[in-house]
Amino acid sequence: MTVLVTGGAGFIGSNFVYLLLEERPEWKVVCVDALTYAANIHTLNDAMQNPNFVFYKEDIRNREGINAIFEKEHPDVVVNFAAESHVDRSIENPAIFLETNILGTAVLMDACRKYGIERFHQVGTDEVYGDLPLDRPDLFFHEDTPIHTSSPYSTSKASADLLCLAYHRTYGLPVTISRCSNNYGPYQFPEKLIPLMINNASQDKPLPVYGEGLNVRDWLYVKDHCYGILAVLEKGRVGEVYNLGGHNEKANIEIVKIILKELGKPESLITYVTDRKGHDQRYAIDPSKAMAELGWAPTTMFKDGIKLTIQWYKEHMDWMKECTSGDYVKYYEEMYGKR
Ligand code: NAD
Ligand code: TYD
Repeated sequence: MTVLVTGGAGFIGSNFVYLLLEERPEWKVVCVDALTYAANIHTLNDAMQNPNFVFYKEDIRNREGINAIFEKEHPDVVVNFAAESHVDRSIENPAIFLETNILGTAVLMDACRKYGIERFHQVGTDEVYGDLPLDRPDLFFHEDTPIHTSSPYSTSKASADLLCLAYHRTYGLPVTISRCSNNYGPYQFPEKLIPLMINNASQDKPLPVYGEGLNVRDWLYVKDHCYGILAVLEKGRVGEVYNLGGHNEKANIEIVKIILKELGKPESLITYVTDRKGHDQRYAIDPSKAMAELGWAPTTMFKDGIKLTIQWYKEHMDWMKECTSGDYVKYYEEMYGKR
């Protein structure tokens, strides 16, 4: 079995690569990543030592390059993690989100049609369902909740999902889609809430909380997400969407305070800043379909996962420094400087 993993030098993709190498040692893992700002090639140092792993620096928008990899590697399964993934960046520059997340997905699926495939799995997000009101804790996202996006990011991801379902219906491409809630864990780029706050707090820098910090996200440990994707690959039905989440809702300010407490830093570091435009209020996944059909369930409690995560970043400050040098300084200044 040869699995082509796109975006494998990023956060969730790299965790998935390591999960496959550990849990399915007989499989070959072919990783394709353009190495954008969000990737760190050193994340894959250990994988590079594994004879079942091969890496290609390639852009999923490049049809010729992607076709050449298919001709050489003959993947049986493709798992598409490659994407522009940060909402704030999508608000500043939507175009690249449309190009990578929609057109790149089409290039991959065209290659699947051309060379044949057993499964194309699209890694999707719960953000395609839009948001839920804060005063209705009884509401959850189900697989048939209408698509109702807010940001250019979530719109590009929703468009990609629809395209996948269209390729399934029109060409019979064996597609599955998983839609997951917010992930946390090792190797997440420090533009996202949890690693950004850990990085800033570690250096006694202000922690920029948007608005009043009351927006709610549903957090899942990244390894649980990766097991969920593996379960969809092995047990999921083609043409189906599976929501992955762990019923672990927290307001942003709660997360920030937990991080400060774990790091032994004062709450005076919290700085409330101008809210994100179009900021989604609450995300909350109903994962009962994946649990019933795939026998999947998360195993990491948030109180344990956040400790593991903070410990990992403390032990990998060199990795963090690599991510936060160069362009990151400019990004941070532009995003937070005058906020
Ligand atoms: P990430 O930004 O950490 O990693 C994305 C990876 O894709 C990077 O390695 C980057 O170099 C690569 N990439 C970007 N553009 C590319 C291109 N044109 N060609 C090839 N590679 C390219 O993102 P992530 O958080 O790991 O998210 C992975 C996937 O999971 C995304 O599709 C995202 O929408 C989805 N998702 C993420 C979350 C989350 O909480 N992070 C939740 C649900 C779904
Ligand atoms: P983020 O990690 O960007 O994920 P998403 O927007 O895809 O859910 O943000 C998580 C939440 O944290 C979101 O409500 C925005 C908020 N946030 C802040 O308050 N400050 C920050 O510096 C960042 C990056 C996010």
